[in-house]
Amino acid sequence: MVDPALALTVSVQQAMGAAFGREYAGADPVVRPANKKQTTADLQVNAAMALAKQVGRPPREVAQAILDHLDDDGLIAAAEIAGPGFINVTLSTDWIARHTSDMLASDRLGVEAVEHPERIPVDYSSPNVAKEMHVGHLRTTVVGDSLVRTLEFLGHEVFRQNHVGDWGTPFGMLIEHLLEAGEDSDEARLLEDDPNEFYQHANAKFKAAEGDSANDFDDRARRRVTLLQGGDADTMRHWDALMERSKAYFNKVYAELDVTLTDDDLSGESQYNDELAEICDDLEARGIARIDNGALCVFLDGFVGRDDQPLPLIIRKSDGGYGYATTDIATVRHYSRDLLADRAVYVVGATQNLHFRMAWAAADKAGYIRPETTPIHVQIGNVLGKDSKLLRTRSGDSMKLQYFVDQALERAATVVAESRPDLPEDVRATIAQQVGIGALKYADLSVAHDSEYIFDLDRMLALTGNTGPYLQYATARIRSILGRADAVDPSGPIVLTEPAERALALRLLDFGAVVHQVGETLQPHRLAAYLFDLAQHFTAFYEQCPVLKAEDAVVRSSRLALCALTEKVLVRGLSLLGIQAPDQM
Ligand code: ARG
Repeated sequence: MVDPALALTVSVQQAMGAAFGREYAGADPVVRPANKKQTTADLQVNAAMALAKQVGRPPREVAQAILDHLDDDGLIAAAEIAGPGFINVTLSTDWIARHTSDMLASDRLGVEAVEHPERIPVDYSSPNVAKEMHVGHLRTTVVGDSLVRTLEFLGHEVFRQNHVGDWGTPFGMLIEHLLEAGEDSDEARLLEDDPNEFYQHANAKFKAAEGDSANDFDDRARRRVTLLQGGDADTMRHWDALMERSKAYFNKVYAELDVTLTDDDLSGESQYNDELAEICDDLEARGIARIDNGALCVFLDGFVGRDDQPLPLIIRKSDGGYGYATTDIATVRHYSRDLLADRAVYVVGATQNLHFRMAWAAADKAGYIRPETTPIHVQIGNVLGKDSKLLRTRSGDSMKLQYFVDQALERAATVVAESRPDLPEDVRATIAQQVGIGALKYADLSVAHDSEYIFDLDRMLALTGNTGPYLQYATARIRSILGRADAVDPSGPIVLTEPAERALALRLLDFGAVVHQVGETLQPHRLAAYLFDLAQHFTAFYEQCPVLKAEDAVVRSSRLALCALTEKVLVRGLSLLGIQAPDQM
């Protein structure tokens, strides 16, 4: 175990058990970073205050009893009781050095797998077929992909669920339009390049036909919906053709963004189609749903609309059609009943929160969610323009995802051309790709997933500040130091004499705890913040401690080992965010 806070937690728990009886050995001793304004200590233990009430003794006395029973295995250099009963702990520099070396020698950089691996479907990205992916999908894709990478690294069993919108009434007109244009036409190819265009054309045709009795496109489209719902073989073949083109579009975007989703992860709305009638019948038969104004509705406790009227969840419209809510009842049932989810994670826009809460409440009422399953909505906030308004095109549509990707890549190419004119063009192109996509992703990941942020390419691509390119640059700089030291073995041993070395080592040891926190809280911005802070610790170290010019061979080798470990942590951390680290920048 390389994490000092965790090591201290375990030791204090043992001491509490030894001092006050075994029932206290499991309590959280509340180990926190020490308050740097008041002490030079590293960590602080706050256990005594709460424990004092339980055992009926003064907190400082309780703190002393903990210290008397503490067997720390060399972890602690000094411990003192302060204020009402805090224990300030200064860690042993030897312990830090030893564990930093262990971390460098470990493939997993000392990050242990979770003790209890969970089964976790992660519903993310989930664009709509024959519609352009927009900037909202960019963020659900980027945040979701970072979460699956992190959860898998921690040893959980992850089921990627790309819940694409591939079903519903618009598919009637889309199929008819595809049939008229021909499956190999330029129009059909739009589905891969500019799907919105294809959708608009189909929609325009439909609208025109509705007002024109001589034109039966609208009737054919409606008939096609019925055929589709009935599973008509010929219609399904056309639907497949539509899907093939759409998959090509999604995959192009995923490849460009370096996202781990593949066709195997597609698990769209169509997959649940056959269950919707059964679910409605079941809920109606059991009195959980009833007809209201022709629609089949579930009334749930705690959901009221305006004027305090109960807010019904419509699961079958008065025309017999099923909606998004019914599909999500089937979806959560699948995650719980078939995938045996412990946590079922939905990385979806914050605006859909009420929808999910109602669909899950209905599913829960029906007993479709096993008690072992916790559905969680990882709410994704909006991306705003510089005017702090929602990003929209002039015609009021959401901005296309591709527009942002193109812009970021273009700017990155300019940045790299300016900073590294010496490199051959193909090398620069690779770096620009990594930097552009890295900047885009990091902007999504470095703010809390549920807060809004302003899309500002200048800031996102800056080489200073909390940006993707800054972290990539920091990594490349360390690689260049290591590259110039080819004759030196960077495996240590690590010896820590300077305060900046010690501070860097201590921060490196936090890596595992941060990754575990992301796995628990599903908040990748904690990892981003850690990596940024780590890079700053490295800069302070590098300013204060000569590495290649260190005169003593042992010191030089130790500092190189610190460089090597920082590089490994940055690269691994960035990869958990889904961001590549260029070799040079
Ligand atoms: N297709 C939806 C959209 O674009 C997102 C689907 C999210 N997942 C779900 N199970 N409802 O907004």
